[in-house]
Amino acid sequence: MHDLDDYRWWQKGTIYQIYPRSFQDSNGDGIGDLGGVLQRLDYLEWLGVDALWLSPIFSSPMADFGYDISDYRAIDPRFGTMEDLDRLLDAVHARGMKLILDLVPNHTSDQHPWFREARASRDSPKRDWYLWEDPAPGGDPPNNWLSVFGGSAWEYDEATGQYYYHAFLAAQPDLNWRNPDVRTAMFDVMRFWLDKGADGFRVDVMWHLLKDERLRHNPPNPDYRPGQPEHARLVPAYSEDQYEVHTIVEQMRAVTDAYDDRVLIGEVYLPLGRLVAYYGPEGRGAHLPFNFQLILLPWEARRLDAAVNAYEGALPSNGWPNWVLSNHDKPRVASRVGPAQARVAAMLLLTLRGTPILYYGDELGMENVAIPPDRVQDPREMKEPGIGVGRDPFRTPMPWDEGPNAGFSEGIPWLPLGADYKSRNVSAQQSDPDSMLTLYRRLIALRKDEPALAVGDFVPVPAEGDVLAYDRVHGGRRLLIALNLGRQPQQMNYAGLSGRILLSTHCDREGDSAHATLRLRADEGVIVAVR
Ligand code: NOJ
Repeated sequence: MHDLDDYRWWQKGTIYQIYPRSFQDSNGDGIGDLGGVLQRLDYLEWLGVDALWLSPIFSSPMADFGYDISDYRAIDPRFGTMEDLDRLLDAVHARGMKLILDLVPNHTSDQHPWFREARASRDSPKRDWYLWEDPAPGGDPPNNWLSVFGGSAWEYDEATGQYYYHAFLAAQPDLNWRNPDVRTAMFDVMRFWLDKGADGFRVDVMWHLLKDERLRHNPPNPDYRPGQPEHARLVPAYSEDQYEVHTIVEQMRAVTDAYDDRVLIGEVYLPLGRLVAYYGPEGRGAHLPFNFQLILLPWEARRLDAAVNAYEGALPSNGWPNWVLSNHDKPRVASRVGPAQARVAAMLLLTLRGTPILYYGDELGMENVAIPPDRVQDPREMKEPGIGVGRDPFRTPMPWDEGPNAGFSEGIPWLPLGADYKSRNVSAQQSDPDSMLTLYRRLIALRKDEPALAVGDFVPVPAEGDVLAYDRVHGGRRLLIALNLGRQPQQMNYAGLSGRILLSTHCDREGDSAHATLRLRADEGVIVAVR
């Protein structure tokens, strides 16, 4: 058995994702900023999270809200200044917390000086920093690859008569990671922020970094159904997850490891077997390739049980797990599973083995917000309107109190607030012993108090129907987690169980004794200290 001290902060702590545009505005322009994050550190410390991950805050034309960077070493003025970032780093560290930045290495903005130079002529020394190709005979794009946001992934450049590749918007040209100068430049960017004291990176679309050198056509997707995003028409066999990408991930890890105690998190949407490859040979890849199974799978106990066990089984021996319920690209968990199950989801997130990554506002049970057509901001929605791919609904401002604009801004918020903000806000929930916020805070606190939850072994417990159950074990301490994912009361039989309930999602059975026949109410989860 290892001591808690043997684990790194990113293993035993809870990571909190901030979408900076929507967290707190400090200057009245309706857009959240670094000054706003600084103002809310008391809240985050009170909540008990250990590390903050900020979605991109760098100079950007905001075609994709910061995932299109025009200067990797500068803070976008909408978010503040470099001094603000320095202040935030100091303040976060003074509280014993960590700050993780978002690294977007796959593509730049088309306004980045590198791309402007590359585009200027075919002979530009930067030309090869991006993926330029001659048209196919007849003038068509070089191959059939599709942008994740719809349409061809190739944009024709009239002036130089070639196409360039963009996995996302045309305003986000992909870098050519086969070019060693690109690698050097991006590793220097990493060092710039690590030198400043950033505690690591969440790496955007890590599995996209390399594409097939021969540009072979992607095959059709036999499972494609009309109404799905256009990108799903093809299997991205040649445009994503190329095996050589792992050497780049290893290099990124080496850059990170030259500094003390930093973390490398990779955004990877892939099936399990290919996902865990991103831990790298002998763990020399990402510390945490994001595990999005709780977002992607149907909310059914048996499916989740199988997925948790498959993940535990697939992890390399030195690979640390992680779990995510929502992020800025996927619908809010409370909208996916409903408000009552969102409490069960909270208990699941914070009791599974592995680092929990919590999306801002989920701790309030925030739901997707309907966006009127004239307030749509997300280019994803604009490119393929009406099929439900827009991301604005889950990027809405954090509701802090019942005052004007929920205390988020003194100006007009860039996206509308949820209609329920007068009752669903931090201030109201902080003083309510039964609130979602109280539940999250108690779960986070319990995870800190109980090494079994933070770092203990995961032991599956047989259960049936809507019940998902497992033990977490550390030293002599055994905790049973039993979750009812259904709308009907359930009874679970756990031979020989004798214990005491530490916490219920209903916040009302603490201290009750638990026996071999454990009753769960509808939508109830419990944590039991087993004797
Ligand atoms: C993944 C990011 O999470 C998403 O928000 C963004 O649009 C794409 N990568 C492109 O950078």
